[in-house]
Amino acid sequence: MKTLALIGAQWGDEGKGKITDLLSEKADIIVRYQGGNNAGHTIWVGNKKTVLHFIPSGILHPHTLSIMGHGMVIEPEALWAEMQGIESTSIKLSDKNFLISDHATIITSYHKLLDACRENQGSLKIGTTGKGIGPAYEEKMSRRSIKVRDLLDAETLKKKLSAILEEKSVLFEKLYQVNFPSREEELERLLSFGKKLAPFIGDSFRAIDQGIRDGKKVLYEGAQGILLDIDYGTYPYVTSSSTAVAGIFSGAGIPSGELEEVLGITKAYTTRVGEGPFPTELDNDLGEFIRQKGHEFGATTGRNRRCGWLDLPLLKYSVKCSKLTSIALTKLDILCNLEELKVCTHYEVDGKTFDCAYPSLDLSKAKPIYKDFTPFKDNFSEPFSKELENYLSFIENSLGIKIGILAFGPERKEILFRKDYF
Ligand code: GDP
Ligand code: IMO
Ligand code: MG
Repeated sequence: MKTLALIGAQWGDEGKGKITDLLSEKADIIVRYQGGNNAGHTIWVGNKKTVLHFIPSGILHPHTLSIMGHGMVIEPEALWAEMQGIESTSIKLSDKNFLISDHATIITSYHKLLDACRENQGSLKIGTTGKGIGPAYEEKMSRRSIKVRDLLDAETLKKKLSAILEEKSVLFEKLYQVNFPSREEELERLLSFGKKLAPFIGDSFRAIDQGIRDGKKVLYEGAQGILLDIDYGTYPYVTSSSTAVAGIFSGAGIPSGELEEVLGITKAYTTRVGEGPFPTELDNDLGEFIRQKGHEFGATTGRNRRCGWLDLPLLKYSVKCSKLTSIALTKLDILCNLEELKVCTHYEVDGKTFDCAYPSLDLSKAKPIYKDFTPFKDNFSEPFSKELENYLSFIENSLGIKIGILAFGPERKEILFRKDYF
């Protein structure tokens, strides 16, 4: 296997960072292709925790090249801070192990401010991470964005900032009535970070193309999850990028190659941060128990993650949306020793039963139908108990694809591979 995609199969925070880190041992190139620092990917090595927001989770493996693809949105100051954090460990960043696409889109101060204004004063609250993601992608689509390469060109940057402020200043002054940085302040700030990032900026498409032609193993690391996809997700409670498999083709490309495996990272239960429907949500003591045991607090914003049972209709939809070929089932340890264990197999909506969360269904009306399982009490050394085997095979049979990886703790060694990747 030379090309592998790793995608969140739910609403994000499924454990993508941990699995990417582990698979990176065998990979050569790791590529992020969408999103920005709304992502928070956690990796534990011994008792050291690293949380990455922009940089691919392969960076802890010095033999790999980590690429931030052109589909990403990047706030240069926050990226620089993350790079400094990495450099404070034993990892040194250079153009050999880290590349930022010159075509990626810049998140400016105006995007962050607009995101905050809309969330605080607007009539539609999404529960965003406040990082300016939506406004930055909007500007990209309206063809006015500042691109990474513009940080190295003062004249172009000045012109683009003027054009952007033509409209944004009206919103800030008249509609939201907030102070905002002047064009000169923003220009100076962006140019100064451009200088710092310059050694790492380059042509990511070409680097991936060359890598694949040289027989390198490429791992595409998704951020967020399929149910947060701008087209496939639970709109409008989604993020503003293509988090499903299609985002790889538009946000990085697989030049001269094919995608051989699409691994869906799936938590053994479901979580969601922010607003939006959540059919299996446990808004009770058990939900709180899972939140505390699973440390379900946002890696980016620290917010409580809403918790609920595993939702197979949603997962079946994710499998179809992204042609998932196998899944990694994470956080099984959190379900261990529970007094009850359920999986949602169907929904009832307006008196009809559905086994897949097709987009036409109004999820806010979906009544989950559960199957009860005898809880398992494993310590995850094989052979597993028949209760755990039963739970796993039911999920595999329902989804029609294999569980290739089981994770039962945050640490690198708390994992079992049932399939060879790379
Ligand atoms: P990501 O955004 O998909 O990378 O996931 P996050 O890092 O936001 O959240 C997943 C959390 O679960 C992190 O704190 C991980 O360290 C942790 N984690 C990952 N896999 C497991 C697991 O199998 N068991 C437990 N207990 N924690 C895990
Ligand atoms: P990782 O990669 C979970 C959610 C936000 C909000 C919605 C829109 O760590 O899995 P945005 O700031 O993107 O405009 O917010 O999307 N969201 C995430 N939820 N994990 C993430 O990333 C997320 N990134 C965005 O909470 O509901
Ligand atoms: Mg996360």
